[in-house]
Amino acid sequence: MNDSKTSEFVEVGTINDFPKGNGKRVMVDGHAVAIFERSGSYYAVEDSCSHQHAQLAHSAIEKDGYDLSITCPRHGARFDLKTGRTLSLPAYRGIRKWNLKIEDGKVLVDRKPMVDAAHEILRLEVESR
Ligand code: FES
Repeated sequence: MNDSKTSEFVEVGTINDFPKGNGKRVMVDGHAVAIFERSGSYYAVEDSCSHQHAQLAHSAIEKDGYDLSITCPRHGARFDLKTGRTLSLPAYRGIRKWNLKIEDGKVLVDRKPMVDAAHEILRLEVESR
């Protein structure tokens, strides 16, 4: 199925295949992708921490206002679930993100990751005194 010249979505399961409030790993064109569900919304991010490649699919989702984040279970780096941006060390780079949509109960993920936060480097703000 083509939504545009650059998007091609593949089915990775139905919404019943994904646990509510948690993550699950799927493979999309050879990439390990973690699909997370939170309050009926779904998110697809790289299932590999940018620090030392720990699997992220079993990370707990944390909610702060409208923001959602996941925490790497190995050393505690946090990532924005909606953008893939890193929010804390020891990961100083983000993780890739995929577009995802739900159609007729099917979970569809774009074959290509977005041009994304994976290459953005965490900016540490240093207070000068
Ligand atoms: S492997 Fe994820 S923070 Fe180290």
